[in-house]
Amino acid sequence: MYLVIGGGGFLGGYLIKNIINTTKEKILASYHSSKGGENTDRVEWFHLNLTDSNSLKDLVCTLKHFKKCGEKITCVYTAGYIKPDDCLKNPDLAVKNNIIALLDFLNESKNLLDSLVFTSTDFVFDTNEKGKPYNEKDKEHPINFYGSIKLACEKIVNSYGYYVVRLPFMFGRSLNPHKSHFIEHLERVINERECFEILSDYYENSLDYDTVSKIILELLIKFKGKLPAPVIHICSDEPVTKYEIALAFARKYHLDSSYLQPIRLSECKFFLAKRGTITMDNSLVKSLLGITQINFEV
Ligand SMILES: NC(=O)c1ccc[n+]([C@@H]2O[C@H](COP(=O)([O-])OP(=O)(O)OC[C@H]3O[C@@H](n4cnc5c(N)ncnc54)[C@H](OP(=O)(O)O)[C@@H]3O)[C@@H](O)[C@H]2O)c1
Repeated sequence: MYLVIGGGGFLGGYLIKNIINTTKEKILASYHSSKGGENTDRVEWFHLNLTDSNSLKDLVCTLKHFKKCGEKITCVYTAGYIKPDDCLKNPDLAVKNNIIALLDFLNESKNLLDSLVFTSTDFVFDTNEKGKPYNEKDKEHPINFYGSIKLACEKIVNSYGYYVVRLPFMFGRSLNPHKSHFIEHLERVINERECFEILSDYYENSLDYDTVSKIILELLIKFKGKLPAPVIHICSDEPVTKYEIALAFARKYHLDSSYLQPIRLSECKFFLAKRGTITMDNSLVKSLLGITQINFEV
């Protein structure tokens, strides 16, 4: 069975969809402040606050029950306090909800999980505008505080013998009716004929949530939960800007792209935490899965 920590989140929703579509496994999915979905014969939702010891203990009871029934439990851990600006403004909350929460979760669930994949970020690196894309062996140097927090989480996860996937900026339609993302925002703004300022001069190997979740599952299935490397980059072949993603989306859905206004990072007033071009190399994941291309879908 799969345990999706952060099942109510954007990536969590796509993981659940693709586990249902590609396996016959049951899913235990956590939600936090916003409700995930309805229980079905395949998906069982439960409330989890990783910073609350009683909530963690309830989860452990459930996991023990499934272990007694002979289930193998594969966990994908996507939860966290993950907005770079929020992490900068509220460092205590960032440490508590990311590092302490992860440690508590791993200690409580010791011996109950057969495998775990933790979702990290390309922000564990600094900008490399003109340099070659970072691969898994390159030395990390976080671009901002959120990147430092995620790097600390990576080290913890690896020290428990589990795995990390590093991800770029992700996007896609939200599968959770209680949460909206970049794409819903973009659609609303264009439909209301407002101007939408989008960054057009910094690049990441961005991917859609659907593709990322499919690749994570392919890795887990092919290697039976024991990935061949402690850290794996999952990202697209070509770096793109958010502006290019928005244009591709507007083209596909026949939206008026004249409302999209490209702006430069140097003019941008809405980010506090440092951003910049970060490119990652995806040759390891392609060779592991025997694929030749990874491109985003809108
Ligand atoms: N989005 C990106 O572009 C991007 C890029 C690189 C890496 N990542 C990583 O990918 C993962 C998934 O991101 P996402 O885009 O799917 O974000 P998301 O929708 O915000 O997912 C994070 C989930 O964690 C839950 N959560 C937060 N605090 C919690 C707590 N104390 N206890 C239990 N659950 C808690 C949130 O629940 P509530 O919302 O209900 O509080 C949310 O469902 C994250 O680890 C992120 O760092 C994301």
